[in-house]
Amino acid sequence: MEHKITVWKNFLLPYKFALDELRTKVNIMVEETKYMEEDSLIEHVKTRLKTPQSMMDKLERKGIEPTVANAKANLFDVAGMRIVTPFKSDVYHLYELMMNRNDLKIMEVKDYIRFPKANGYQSMHLIVQVPITLSKGMEHVYVEVQIRTLAMDFWASLEHKIYYKYQSDIPQYLEKGLKEAADTVKEMDEKMKVIHDAVEGLHETSTKKVISLHSDGGRTK
Ligand code: GTP
Ligand code: MG
Repeated sequence: MEHKITVWKNFLLPYKFALDELRTKVNIMVEETKYMEEDSLIEHVKTRLKTPQSMMDKLERKGIEPTVANAKANLFDVAGMRIVTPFKSDVYHLYELMMNRNDLKIMEVKDYIRFPKANGYQSMHLIVQVPITLSKGMEHVYVEVQIRTLAMDFWASLEHKIYYKYQSDIPQYLEKGLKEAADTVKEMDEKMKVIHDAVEGLHETSTKKVISLHSDGGRTK
């Protein structure tokens, strides 16, 4: 058993490094856009590694013998990163930035924002291949990346809690309530964006006005 735990711990190490590398890449993308456009693309980032127990349980559920070799070949969410953004447009902006990098390979895209799940769940899911360099050479490690807005994340946290509380058998009135709340989330994300853009527009026109006042002033003098 002791030996088994050590094997799983060693197995997890490259996944930890992949999360570290990916976090740095995300930080660079975010800082670079901040430098150019000021508004931050992200609200916060969280990462997690699956525990050996949850990897073994997931393999067993899939009817696969729970070994590290099988985990490596069959589980694509051993390492997980959740990126929470202010606006829906930030989700797609980040996705595009990730796609355009040649040090990341997007292996799978599930757009639950354009195509929400039946329960109302919204999020962008990517399986990203991250290169890491170890003393023995280069390895390519899969990371599951979830990108969603604050409002979508708020909804998902509550739904997750309810799902576990009722062991996936959610009473119908709660299911209905969650579906309605999901519609509200969608509406709120859209309204917030309209307001945000209107304020940006105001800011831009007032800056332009100041600039034109200055330049006019210069010319008429
Ligand atoms: P599994 O990896 O086996 O779950 O299957 P999959 O790869 O088809 O799953 P998917 O990409 O749809 O979802 C993976 C992860 O997204 C889950 O582990 C959750 O963290 C999250 N997720 C997916 N659906 C829901 C949902 O309905 N509610 C909430 N709260 N989270 C969800
Ligand atoms: Mg998955």
